[in-house]
Amino acid sequence: MKEIAWTMDLSVGIELIDEQHKMLIKHLSDLNESLQSGKGPTKIASTLNFLIEYTNFHFSAEEKHMAANDYPELENHKKMHEGFKTTLSNLEEELEEEGATKMLADSIDTLLVKWLFEHIREIDVAFGKYLKEKGIEIPNED
Ligand SMILES: [Fe+2]
Repeated sequence: MKEIAWTMDLSVGIELIDEQHKMLIKHLSDLNESLQSGKGPTKIASTLNFLIEYTNFHFSAEEKHMAANDYPELENHKKMHEGFKTTLSNLEEELEEEGATKMLADSIDTLLVKWLFEHIREIDVAFGKYLKEKGIEIPNED
């Protein structure tokens, strides 16, 4: 798998959200790294936990700004976020029950990385465009 990293093509044009995406991708990369390098179950569970916590924080922040700016796609967008959260909690369950299997390590790429990168490029970018068209700026401090 190629390196899991934020690159400029993932920018949504909103600094606050870009910074959060960088952090989210970092947590994803940490999880991948701990699975690939065969770290112990406690370490893997804790990196997954950091990822889940940060995902919740970040999705809430995005949804808050969408609601505050009357974004018409809010409900659809929320459903996608819920889907990703469900994937994460399924993985967490799988890790508890089966341990760090190869299947789990492989699913990071297909279920998390691909989903997130596509979501950012297509779905979050649309929110960035919406704000730009409306001339709305979101302050960096949240
Ligand atoms: Fe999003």
